Amino acid sequence: MERNFDRTIPKICAFGVELNQVWTNLIMNAVDAMKEGGELELRTSQDALDVVVEVRDNGSGIPTEVLSRIFDPFFTTKGVGEGTGLGLDTAMRVIKKHRGEIDVRSEPGETVFRISLPKVKKAVSSL
Ligand SMILES: Nc1ncnc2c1ncn2[C@@H]1O[C@H](COP(=O)(O)OP(=O)(O)OP(=O)(O)O)[C@@H](O)[C@H]1O
Ligand SMILES: [Mg+2]
Repeated sequence: MERNFDRTIPKICAFGVELNQVWTNLIMNAVDAMKEGGELELRTSQDALDVVVEVRDNGSGIPTEVLSRIFDPFFTTKGVGEGTGLGLDTAMRVIKKHRGEIDVRSEPGETVFRISLPKVKKAVSSL
């Protein structure tokens, strides 16, 4: 695992416990997608308005026909008892609640989930 953290990122107002669920779900998915010896990168950065967190793995990648469905509740490509298909649905709901965004780009051997969260406090949705 490679950590590339921008130590100058400002503090933001957020529900830390909920965001921890997001990082956990993304990291678990990355681990599931990689063979032994896979490489996982966690990167933080910022631009003028947002703080950005990226989770990158060098695993199988997400097939195009699957990509449009990965955020759907209960969508999973994992076996019965292995995945509930709720990890990314939960992640999306938490990020939306924080008025942030979550994007994914994927090809075989490289998948990156990118989360941006606004630096300036906006009303947190009650959803
Ligand atoms: N990093 C990744 N690489 C390859 N496929 C991924 C990755 N992240 C998600 N996926 C795909 O998206 C699907 C949905 O992910 P999600 O986290 O919502 O559910 P899950 O991992 O299958 O089950 P759960 O997280 O509930 O245990 C996965 O089954 C997998 O097919
Ligand atoms: Mg998952």
